[in-house]
Amino acid sequence: MTDPNGHDLRTDGVPESDRPGPGGEDSVMALHRAAMDVMNDPVMLSAEGTPDEDEAAPGGQDTVQRMQDILMREQAEPRDGFEPVPFWVAVVCGGLLMWGGYYLGTNNADFRADVYDTSEFRLGGDLRLPAGGPAPPDPELKTVAEYVKVGADVYRRVCVACHKPDGNGDPSQQYPPLNGSEWVAGAEASPARLSRVVLYGLHRPITVKGKSFNGQMPAQGGVLKDYEIAAAIMFARNTWDNKADPNDANPAVTTAAVKAARDKTGKRDPMTETDLKAISLDQSDLPPPANAPKTDKADAPPAKSDAAPKG
Ligand code: HEC
Repeated sequence: MTDPNGHDLRTDGVPESDRPGPGGEDSVMALHRAAMDVMNDPVMLSAEGTPDEDEAAPGGQDTVQRMQDILMREQAEPRDGFEPVPFWVAVVCGGLLMWGGYYLGTNNADFRADVYDTSEFRLGGDLRLPAGGPAPPDPELKTVAEYVKVGADVYRRVCVACHKPDGNGDPSQQYPPLNGSEWVAGAEASPARLSRVVLYGLHRPITVKGKSFNGQMPAQGGVLKDYEIAAAIMFARNTWDNKADPNDANPAVTTAAVKAARDKTGKRDPMTETDLKAISLDQSDLPPPANAPKTDKADAPPAKSDAAPKG
């Protein structure tokens, strides 16, 4: 048996004991020689001389290394279906839920159908809006009874909140009475004064029926029309204990009187008791009869009368 180099495997460098025995040509050592040559091959062992990976010798030493390389390089395959929900997703969903609840809570308008239903604007419903077609003309009120009838409705809508159904107001809230008030149906009452109280509101202390009130009556001139203001005043003058206009054909406070007061005074701050007293009881804002000289003490500019509260 010879190796590729022609050496006799049995005699070349082999210990004496490995010489073939009498019965056989070969030995265990000789059988392993081929494999040993491959493993001791300096080309296979040296770092630089490592042959191409694909050509690594079968059963060569680097196969273990290659296997380890593969194990080190590869990660476990990800599997579907068992990932926990990311925290930020829970936070975002919770935030959206809270925002939705808050929005619903603040904007539900009591879930009333008529609040956000814009169809009413187009259909010209009850709302008096420019887009709703021509508003019905103001009723032309003539008699005291007509004023009082319309005024009852206005009073119920607006004035009743403060002056109460019985017209006695609520002294604990600084709401003075209209029932029996000298400013409504007594010594201090006049169309010019009453129109301005309702048109512009009233503040600062005022004495009604011997009691001082210091409240804030909001101006109604922007909310109510002239005929509504006249009607509400006429209602107050002729309801409860008040009987200020016995002559049904001759109402004291008319739509025309309120309109004249509004036109004359324009915009101004709320009235005060002082302002009211400055308006003489016989002042009329309506055009005076041809020969009567016009007295106009009352309508001092608002800045003056408001800046200097006298008496
Ligand atoms: C928000 C509450 C409120 C409303 C609404 C209101 N008033 Fe007044 N009113 C007052 C207060 C408060 C005073 C007293 C103001 C003061 O102390 O200076 C007053 C005073 C008056 C006075 C003079 C004092 C008196 O008692 O005679 C008259 C007249 C009057 N209001 C009529 C009306 C009429 C008519 C309406 C409806 C068109 C009306 N008010 C709506 C709160 C209100």
